[in-house]
Amino acid sequence: MKSEEFIKFSDPLKLFSLWFDEAKEKDTYNYNACCLATADVRGVPSARMVLVKSFDERGFIFFTNTNSRKAEEFERNNKVALCFYWKPLKRQVRIEGTIMDLPFKESDKYFKTRPRKSQIGAWASKQSNFMEGGYTTLLKKYKLYEEKFLGIDIPRPDFWCGKVILPEKIEFWIEKDNRLHERLLFTAQNEKWAKEYLYP
Ligand SMILES: Cc1cc2nc3c(=O)[nH]c(=O)nc-3n(C[C@H](O)[C@H](O)[C@H](O)COP(=O)(O)O)c2cc1C
Repeated sequence: MKSEEFIKFSDPLKLFSLWFDEAKEKDTYNYNACCLATADVRGVPSARMVLVKSFDERGFIFFTNTNSRKAEEFERNNKVALCFYWKPLKRQVRIEGTIMDLPFKESDKYFKTRPRKSQIGAWASKQSNFMEGGYTTLLKKYKLYEEKFLGIDIPRPDFWCGKVILPEKIEFWIEKDNRLHERLLFTAQNEKWAKEYLYP
């Protein structure tokens, strides 16, 4: 993306949408993967990858287990950050904001679209908890749920939900020669976006 084109954007969600589409085209495997950072109440950070399934005027949506470590952290400290990196595009996007619940109806709707085996997997996993007996325990639990739900529609587990991250800062980064990378930072201010350039 040329500098002149990059800097003319005043709406970061439009720019994100453009980059996300390009990533989908050129970085086909998990183009929607990003690193989600949370921090516990003492401010100790932790990070892991998640898949952003969609985004809209509210923010960035992903799904997870609400008994997981990340959920335990963001339930008490709702400030989180996301970082996307698309190697073929040589671009990074950093997002900081507040995490909220996605309405349950939307989680139900999305859960229905998941492959049956992934739905069973969601039931079988006590995400982030210690697993007695090792990996075979998980396979056994998977089998149990497979039998339990045989021939019926699988409901969304209460502990598996969508979350939406309401962005407060969105920064776009483009790799350029000689480490003269371009950075454009958008900050939410009074329902508008303020735009600033940053040194690389
Ligand atoms: C590419 C990739 C995508 C992932 N997507 C998700 C996801 O959308 N939701 C999720 O809960 N975990 C996802 N995971 C697993 C998490 O990285 C992590 O292992 C898990 O959520 C437990 O994290 P926690 O113990 O910090 O809660 C993904 C992992 C990778 C490598």
